[in-house]
Amino acid sequence: MDTPPPQSEAKPFAPVPAPIQRPDGIKHIIAVISGKGGVGKSTVSANIAASFAILGNTVGLFDADLTGHSQSMLFDTHTSIESMLKKHEPADCCGVKVASFGFLYPDAKTVIWRGPMISNGIKALFGQTNWGELDYLIVDLPPGTSDAQLTVIRDIPIDGGIVVTTPDPLAASVAERGLVMLSELNKKILGVVENMSAGVCQACGDALRPFGSGAGKKLAEKYGVAFFGTVPLSLELHDAVESRKPVVLKYPDSPASKSFFQITDALKKSLP
Ligand SMILES: Nc1ncnc2c1ncn2[C@@H]1O[C@H](COP(=O)(O)OP(=O)(O)OP(=O)(O)O)[C@@H](O)[C@H]1O
Ligand SMILES: [Mg+2]
Repeated sequence: MDTPPPQSEAKPFAPVPAPIQRPDGIKHIIAVISGKGGVGKSTVSANIAASFAILGNTVGLFDADLTGHSQSMLFDTHTSIESMLKKHEPADCCGVKVASFGFLYPDAKTVIWRGPMISNGIKALFGQTNWGELDYLIVDLPPGTSDAQLTVIRDIPIDGGIVVTTPDPLAASVAERGLVMLSELNKKILGVVENMSAGVCQACGDALRPFGSGAGKKLAEKYGVAFFGTVPLSLELHDAVESRKPVVLKYPDSPASKSFFQITDALKKSLP
């Protein structure tokens, strides 16, 4: 049998002291978190960032997911390791400045790192990036409540977090742990988004609720925090992902985009 390939060509970053100072010129830093995987954190992050850009704001998007990075795939853009790692420039994605490990370790160059290396990598990429003047910087977190999340919440100067869940009570009960983590680390829970809510059956036009409904609103009510709204299951969104554009840019009139614009508006109003 063939011997397996070496685990990774990825090199760890040089040690970064914690915590990271708030970069001058960034007005709001907002984390998008969930204890649960696959509920749409990256989708929500990309579309909130793009919605803010459409509204004329200067926006950054930091993909803090070292192993499951998605933002380099969600936008049709390329940048070089030279540009991101040596010149410290984020990629320009339709008016959103994006820094993602996906630009550094593309394709199947899997990063197989232990906890301290993960934390250090997140701090390094965040801290070294020339974000410039930003109205909003959105931070897309990996799922769970361990090293990576602790690093972002404790060592990066976020103002608060948005919690994402699907309408399914099981998903919400796991998503809730992200919310509790924010609260226990004394960060503001800005609000809850329920993604993959009712869709529409293409054949009969009836509402489809494969994951039920209401768990996001219930979660917000349980903790007395804002409910920013629902995002429907959306074929347009799926199509937009295939063409590497946030749905708010590709299909701005779609129901999913309208939801993202409303959620972004609610988020904006919740900030000081
Ligand atoms: N409203 C939606 N309608 C249709 N598909 C969606 C919707 N939201 C997300 N998806 C799809 O569901 C999948 C998971 O979404 P996404 O990657 O944003 O979740 P995530 O929470 O960031 O996952 P992870 O925990 O792995 O980081 C993706 O394929 C995405 O395109
Ligand atoms: Mg993700």
